[in-house]
Amino acid sequence: VAMEKGNYRHFMQKEIFEQPTVVAQTLHSYLRPVEQQVALPQIDFDISAIDRVTIVACGTSYYAGMVAKYWFERFARVPVDIDFASEFRYREPVLPEGGLALFISQSGETADTLAALRHCREQGQVIAAVVNVPTSSMAREADLLLPTHAGPEIGVASTKAFTCQLAVLAALAAHFAVKKGRLSRAEEAKIVDHLLEAPACLNAALDHDDDIAAMAHLIAPARDVLYLGRGADFPLALEGALKLKEISYIHAEGYASGEMKHGPIALIDEEVPVIVLAPSGPLFEKTVSNMQEVQARGGKVVLISDAEGIAQAGEDCMATIQMPTVHPLIAPLVYAVPVQLLAYHVAVLKGTDVDQPRNLAKSVTVE
Ligand code: G6P
Repeated sequence: VAMEKGNYRHFMQKEIFEQPTVVAQTLHSYLRPVEQQVALPQIDFDISAIDRVTIVACGTSYYAGMVAKYWFERFARVPVDIDFASEFRYREPVLPEGGLALFISQSGETADTLAALRHCREQGQVIAAVVNVPTSSMAREADLLLPTHAGPEIGVASTKAFTCQLAVLAALAAHFAVKKGRLSRAEEAKIVDHLLEAPACLNAALDHDDDIAAMAHLIAPARDVLYLGRGADFPLALEGALKLKEISYIHAEGYASGEMKHGPIALIDEEVPVIVLAPSGPLFEKTVSNMQEVQARGGKVVLISDAEGIAQAGEDCMATIQMPTVHPLIAPLVYAVPVQLLAYHVAVLKGTDVDQPRNLAKSVTVE
């Protein structure tokens, strides 16, 4: 069946708006809402014996893996290594016995990631794969297949596959933590409840589409854009910059908020918009002081935060985008929406080929 755009102008736009539905679908195959428990597919190895995780992926899937590293370490206290697939094999990685190698890929066919998977198989690692295409090579070759249920993704720049990957990875992190005895029943129940709030929060984020479209005019003329984030939202800054580069061809960089002073701050002037991803919470104050460093140099900040964060720090910003107030666990899913929509609207203003950006391919099957 040919895929239809329906009322949407582009597949990417349609796929952004599908996220509440497909994330809900994905979560429902990993969570038992009534029992408030995480439920993974049948696993025929002892997950509690795993004491190291190696994550390998490319592009947007790699950023999902970076978020997962924060979650696995925080909840399960399992150390995580993460590599770009193209770097992984050639650095001769040390792969300890009892390690789990986790591959993340929308297509399940990316050549670098697939080669890394086979390398890990030869090295005796247990192989898990978070994959969107169930008939793909990675899906077939994994010991533990963790499917995302995003449905076919047509837009070259990944959107709904990313948030579905995050949904699976959060469930996996919680499952790991339970098996490692790091989460009580009550804590597990809470995590399940927070994850189940994600679809409604994604909808609330999508409600700001018009505000984001209006503010895209402020970004479209820029030559360079900086994205800042902290903690599990730092990978979202990287993803935001990647999305903007991919489809609008504007140079963008993602940075950890606190690292800006070690380099990128030299770029700041009134010509370089700085997009700050900062849900309110314990790290908010620190990010605000990084924002002030930008503003003191004439830099123009777009603050993406919740009502509390915007009330506290929105005043001196060029623009603000309000997100719902969410539990920190699901913030990376929810904050994906404004960075996707911003890139989308900027690209539309620039008249680029949103679904088929120049020089890029949906699935890169050469090394
Ligand atoms: C290509 C796509 C990206 C994607 C990356 C990894 O570069 O343009 O959107 O993130 O491949 O693809 P995968 O299918 O392995 O997730």
